[in-house]
Amino acid sequence: MKLLVINGPNLNMLGIREKQIYGTQTYEDLKAYILEQAALLGMEAEIFQSNHEGDLVDRIQAAYGTADGIVINPAAYTHTSVAILDALKAVSLPAVEVHLSDVTKREPFRQISYAGMACEAHFIGLGFEGYREAMAYLAAKRKDHN
Ligand code: DQA
Repeated sequence: MKLLVINGPNLNMLGIREKQIYGTQTYEDLKAYILEQAALLGMEAEIFQSNHEGDLVDRIQAAYGTADGIVINPAAYTHTSVAILDALKAVSLPAVEVHLSDVTKREPFRQISYAGMACEAHFIGLGFEGYREAMAYLAAKRKDHN
């Protein structure tokens, strides 16, 4: 099973940005964690990060016909991007939303998730573990359907 793991803007600054919210582990640590957990789940994960909305849309579109599922943390674009929502709907792949922090307990402007409307599961506020749970969800779903 081939997964695309997408991370949005400023997640490349993990370990530097707002450590009281996002912790001290770096983006390199996150990538290593995702690849390790994907391997343990018997999946192949490709990780893509961009600070640019259109690049995220392009990468989602490129997943059509090449990936079996998408794990996405759209970061700040979660709360603003109808384009990312539409791209997820366009490719119609099983998609799961992840947020490191518990956005439900943060500012009012973080309470809407456009991308989340195209996702069938949501792992929020679990730190790195949320990515593992998202991948495990897609692996289990695939198993059920085979
Ligand atoms: C985030 C939450 C977003 O509100 C924020 O803009 C981010 C990271 C998270 O993983 O907790 O950049 O997606």
